[in-house]
Amino acid sequence: MNVREPSIDMNRLFDRLRSLGAIGRGEDGKLVRLSASDNDKAGRDCLVSWLNEAGLEVAVDRIGNVFGIWRDESNEKEMPLLLGSHIDTVIDAGMYDGCFGVLSGLEVIETLKAAGIRPQRPVVVAAFTNEEGVRYAPDMMGSLVFAGGMPVEEALAVIGHDGSVLGDELRRIGYAGTLDPGFLKPHAYLELHIEQGPVLEREGFTLGAVENLQGISWQRITIDGIANHAGTTPMSMRRDAGHAAARVVTFLRDRAMASNSPTVATVGCMQFEPNAINVIPSRAMFTVDLRDPNEQRLRAEEAALATFLEGLAKAEGVRVSVERLARFEPVIFDGDLVAHIEEAASRRGLACRRMTSGAGHDAQMIARISPAAMIFVPSVGGISHNPAEFTPEADLVAGATVLLDVVMDLVRSSGAQA
Ligand code: GLV
Ligand code: MN
Ligand code: MN
Repeated sequence: MNVREPSIDMNRLFDRLRSLGAIGRGEDGKLVRLSASDNDKAGRDCLVSWLNEAGLEVAVDRIGNVFGIWRDESNEKEMPLLLGSHIDTVIDAGMYDGCFGVLSGLEVIETLKAAGIRPQRPVVVAAFTNEEGVRYAPDMMGSLVFAGGMPVEEALAVIGHDGSVLGDELRRIGYAGTLDPGFLKPHAYLELHIEQGPVLEREGFTLGAVENLQGISWQRITIDGIANHAGTTPMSMRRDAGHAAARVVTFLRDRAMASNSPTVATVGCMQFEPNAINVIPSRAMFTVDLRDPNEQRLRAEEAALATFLEGLAKAEGVRVSVERLARFEPVIFDGDLVAHIEEAASRRGLACRRMTSGAGHDAQMIARISPAAMIFVPSVGGISHNPAEFTPEADLVAGATVLLDVVMDLVRSSGAQA
């Protein structure tokens, strides 16, 4: 077979990014592909058509993770090199988060195939189910189940915020596969992703070699007070669930702002009942997202919130209940893989720095079962989970090229023939 120096087809990669980014846009122009929804099905169908066109074996496991497998008789007994990310989105999303990693993984495989490379081990691209966790908690669910961190039956039984059951929805959209999650045991895992933060752009780096990823704590808090008339109830006689919730929001922000640590705290969802202008809220339901790269500090933040909620219940005459939605400890990625990424970037003359990921990623879950690391490219203005999410094409190419180089290093170092 003829062999030539591989180089990614950036036009194919950009075309696919744009095509996938157009799937799941409503009439209002907003991109919403929540996990296991009709829009997610359309995105998955599109991805699967590309995996088929690339001549990959398509596999779907019971939690709906989609795999494009490149293997032959000569290497099928070896553990695969796994590349992956996700294609589900948040509400009113940008088009790069997750999709860039999946499509780059596919691009790398197609590039290697076209160049006549014969890797000694299979190379697989994965799109993991429900990374975002917007419809079903916890986030990173598909990779968590794949890594054995949650039983598949438990995950399939999760009820979403819209009352749907994940397993039913996966069946409905045709992505309840039959393979047991974990049917592939990765030799190593690489994930290319946009940074989703401001560090690389601010400091003038083209790439990040991600060394670690912060811990994530998600809780849903329900505060029950008493509904009453907004005009007649004196301020001192209120049991106002809405006001109590507002105090939690400001407590979290004030505490994070006053600390010298990198702790971040977010209340992203809030609902009042009965939700009427002239009725004191009887119930407030909201979420808390706490993150910190240090497990001890994250625990201390959780404990401080719990203590605050106890005092709040007494002071406001309300009842507070807390449900844990997700809890992941910080993760340290594989030192050799991180060094590999740095070396590959340096060979290409690309400015690369080691960094911590603020966002959660599937790599965090796969790190439980295999060496894992991530490559970041800059996010302009540090904006993500927002339609304005943007990474210049030159940076996308740089990221995909370094992914290609690292993959070649890994398949060759295991004896691959070029
Ligand atoms: C995933 O995007 C997360 O970090 O919440
Ligand atoms: Mn993502
Ligand atoms: Mn995301």
